[in-house]
Amino acid sequence: MEISRRDFLTKTGKAGLLSYPAMLALGLLKPAPAHPFQLPGHGAGKHIIILGAGLSGMAAAYELGKLGYTCTILEARNRAGGRCWSIRRGTTSQEEGMGLQTARFDDGLYFNAGPSRIPHHHALTLHYCRELEVPIQVYNNVNEASYYFSEGKGSLSNKKVRVREIHNDVRGYICEMLAKAIDQDKIDTALTKEDKEKIVEYLRAEGGLNIDKLYRASDRRGFTESPGAAERAGKIADPYRLADIIESGFMSPDFYNVAEYTYELQMTMFQAVGGMDQIAAALQKKVGNQIRFGCEVTEILNVADGVKITCKQGKDEKTLQGDMCITTIPLPVLGNIKNNFSSEVSRAIDYIPYINTGKIGLQFKRRFWEEDEQIYGGITHTNNELTQIFYPSYDYLGKKGILIGYYNFNEKAKRVAGLNYPQREQLALQKGKLIHPQYDQEFENSFSVSWSKTPYNMGGWALYTSETRASLYRALLKPDKNIYFAGEHMTYLNAWMAGAFESARKVVADLHGRMSEQRISYSGSK
Ligand code: ALA
Repeated sequence: MEISRRDFLTKTGKAGLLSYPAMLALGLLKPAPAHPFQLPGHGAGKHIIILGAGLSGMAAAYELGKLGYTCTILEARNRAGGRCWSIRRGTTSQEEGMGLQTARFDDGLYFNAGPSRIPHHHALTLHYCRELEVPIQVYNNVNEASYYFSEGKGSLSNKKVRVREIHNDVRGYICEMLAKAIDQDKIDTALTKEDKEKIVEYLRAEGGLNIDKLYRASDRRGFTESPGAAERAGKIADPYRLADIIESGFMSPDFYNVAEYTYELQMTMFQAVGGMDQIAAALQKKVGNQIRFGCEVTEILNVADGVKITCKQGKDEKTLQGDMCITTIPLPVLGNIKNNFSSEVSRAIDYIPYINTGKIGLQFKRRFWEEDEQIYGGITHTNNELTQIFYPSYDYLGKKGILIGYYNFNEKAKRVAGLNYPQREQLALQKGKLIHPQYDQEFENSFSVSWSKTPYNMGGWALYTSETRASLYRALLKPDKNIYFAGEHMTYLNAWMAGAFESARKVVADLHGRMSEQRISYSGSK
């Protein structure tokens, strides 16, 4: 039965009698946005030229629009979103020196070439999902059922080993060693006898040690025969020997427990339902009429009363005048555009390096990782060029699926970037089938992205050291006369959508404060 708002209020007497959740459910109240951006004053009559229709450019236009500014967004590509890019059927790309690549994935299947996960503490990203009505779902970043695969010479090398086996064996052995050392007073802890006993008890629980404080196999590391009905008690295998684990490379950096421990990668993580580009699409709905697509910026000039931006649209060259400009163009691209920036700013643009990184999406006709191996989301880690295989966190139990066949960084990504598309596919298949022999039977097609070779990006994300933070980074935090710098590279949230959003707000606050002659300072969403 449908009940109208008026009926409801009449029948219940007063809205004041209803609980807050009931009123929310009935649409009588809008939930208060957790991070609304409300700046005083307005910018009517002012024209801001924004370079780049990625998340930071569109978010800046969206917030400036609320204040009454007129914005023009110049976007070199024929799509919005920048690195927030989901690859689906019909997506095309043409990397530097390469031919055209077209995705042939089945309808409904996609992978996120750029951002693929949202930390639960990235409140501003989640705020925009809420405000722009982008549904999200849990992204499974951590999976004990996935594998470690170490190429090398140890007895556990060149075969897949479940993460839970290594995790529990290593934890068990380390706890055993520590408990022994404490018991035998081999380490100077300066603790009381009672405290030492408590620590040893903790180590027994943490490591799964037996009554003699020794690590022995337990079901924490999984079963070789699972428990079931009647007499089927289940079987567990012996732990691996610590020496074999070490010799096989599982205690080297490629296999550190980064996924679990890094603040940014701790569960819970999220993704946008249907592809991360849904966030870009939702912003585009708000500011799309201000975007000029296919406009490649060729010159950025500060002039006496504002900015003058020249761009190439097809064969035409156009010049736009504005009061101020926000450039979100990635620095390796910005460095090649004619400008009259100060020498300090030019130096920063030229010397802040970007990471090499890339991914390949591999479509398979069967979700063998789920059907045969009980892997639902999460990551397999390797020490070869693949670095990681990501299992999809959507369409569980579906028929087909796309794996991210590699997601690599730095030197490994650079080598892969030097390959053409078929060679990258071949590498992903050759190395991947060492872990999943099903690749041979089930593979259908692929699409790869190397960010360092992608026009208008020329890199993954900005990389800083404490020295470059103190020097180069600072040079871009201030506007160069009428030109502001925004994007993940202008934050301590590099490589995250949160960086794009936080930076957009920071620059909008700075610019608006200046234009409306108010003291406004933005110190972050939390
Ligand atoms: N934000 C990047 C990722 O999730 C680094 O992999």
